[in-house]
Amino acid sequence: MTFYQIWVRSFKDGNGDGIGDLYGVYEKLDYIKSLGIDGIWLCPVYPSPNADYGYDISDYKNIHPDFGDLAQFRKVLDRVHELGMKLIMDLVVNHTSDEHPWFLESRKGKDNPYSDYYIWRDKPNNWDSLFEGKAWEYDEVRGQYYLHIFSKKQPDLNMDNPKVREEVKSIMRFWLDMGVDGFREDVINFISKKEGLPDGLPFIPAVNGMFAYKDGPHIHEYLAEFREVCNEYDCIQIGEGPMTTVKTALMYMTGKTKSLDMMFSFDHMMADCLYTEYIQRPFSLRKLKRAFSKWQYALNGRAWNTLYLENHDHPRIINRYGSVYFRRESGTMLAAAYIFQQGTVFIYQGQEIGMTNIRLRDIDDYMDISSKTNFSKYHINDPLDERMKRIYKSSRDSSRTPMQWSGLRYAGFSTARPWFKVNPNYHEVNVAAEENDPDSILNFYRKCVWLKKHCKTLVYGSYREFYPKSHRIYMYERVYNDSRWLIICSFSRLPAEVKLPPEYEGRARRLVLCNYRGSDPYDMHLRPYEARVYKFR
Ligand code: NOJ
Repeated sequence: MTFYQIWVRSFKDGNGDGIGDLYGVYEKLDYIKSLGIDGIWLCPVYPSPNADYGYDISDYKNIHPDFGDLAQFRKVLDRVHELGMKLIMDLVVNHTSDEHPWFLESRKGKDNPYSDYYIWRDKPNNWDSLFEGKAWEYDEVRGQYYLHIFSKKQPDLNMDNPKVREEVKSIMRFWLDMGVDGFREDVINFISKKEGLPDGLPFIPAVNGMFAYKDGPHIHEYLAEFREVCNEYDCIQIGEGPMTTVKTALMYMTGKTKSLDMMFSFDHMMADCLYTEYIQRPFSLRKLKRAFSKWQYALNGRAWNTLYLENHDHPRIINRYGSVYFRRESGTMLAAAYIFQQGTVFIYQGQEIGMTNIRLRDIDDYMDISSKTNFSKYHINDPLDERMKRIYKSSRDSSRTPMQWSGLRYAGFSTARPWFKVNPNYHEVNVAAEENDPDSILNFYRKCVWLKKHCKTLVYGSYREFYPKSHRIYMYERVYNDSRWLIICSFSRLPAEVKLPPEYEGRARRLVLCNYRGSDPYDMHLRPYEARVYKFR
């Protein structure tokens, strides 16, 4: 199964106000289907003040007026189903917006029915928030501090309160009754906090509380309750698990504590950074391969991986692990590098046409809260142009620029000026241009998705990596009964000679997919960022 992830605000504007919406999503469902997609993950579409663009929800059972209404949502859902696809929603229940009626009530006082919906304290602990200063904010009205792991406008819910869990289940039922097929669950490993909220390690800035708010003591109980709801509807639950290790992920996905079908892990997103893309280091292919293989080996036969390289939280992958100078070559190579591993593939809007990071002149041109706070928190003594370079490399906004549909005005995203700047490379990088080019990144993605869907070995086969120490080549096999595939990806901007593993040497082979024309299957000199997908006899 292959998923396509939509961040609605920047996907397609259907009503001409410059903001992507559910009318635009509806228009583009046939395009999504044409990629070979089986399921759609819709980022939050609920009413939200947009402090964190939809991840601060003020009404869980409605649609943001910018995006349409419940009737339009239903239309989208029905059409998705007609096209034989599934649709999953984002379930964001670690926190709400501070404008959610529960919070407005909760802050009124301790004898309020919503008083314990959030985490209130007279004295804060030492945790930093991931987005904005300290993790506690003093509320004048209530005369206490509330916890916010993310921004001040995202107070954490108190999941220890059974009433809050009932609310979550009611939200799940609301959407499941409407017919959605499951949930992507935001920072789900954060929802149970360690009793007493102990101080975190002071020398790890930003994540110092992580060990106290990640994988808390009641997490499996709470998730079991949510699982029961999902079981009634036979739907899928995919949990986002920041900083999840393989061992803990297996706890969520297997055995008695199994509550999630899959998890989004982050190890492979740190081959060029630490915790956040803002703390940069040079890209290391070996780190990337180590992360890939660790998860492939550990989950094989036990659980199922999610495979992704981009989403709305990371800058574009070509800038990070490929090269903008070899945009087509590295964009296609990266597709082959991850899609043929074992797991369910996720493709993020624009990734399939090789969209790249946007370079904005001024920090005020950026919209994302974490970009802005990273800018003012780290490396503040560096020269301004250095700091702007960091933002260019790291900002989440690069994945949130309007989708580039054509070379027309505003990249065909909207007829009005879009809510956010369009990447000026849209004349060259756009869906229409790539549709017409058989060698485009878009058409390569189509081939990869098709191949993955139609080849059992690439779905169920075992995984083995070769030459893990190579700084240039990522090579792995997939084997199922007698069927044997080898995927070879060059991460080098220079030509590279590859040696086949001894058991493959001299064997008959078919080069099923390659991102260059005219490659001789028996000549193992690879061109820059070449990717080859072989079937061996
Ligand atoms: C993870 C989401 O993917 C991200 O966009 C959001 O900012 C945080 N969780 C907080 O909800």
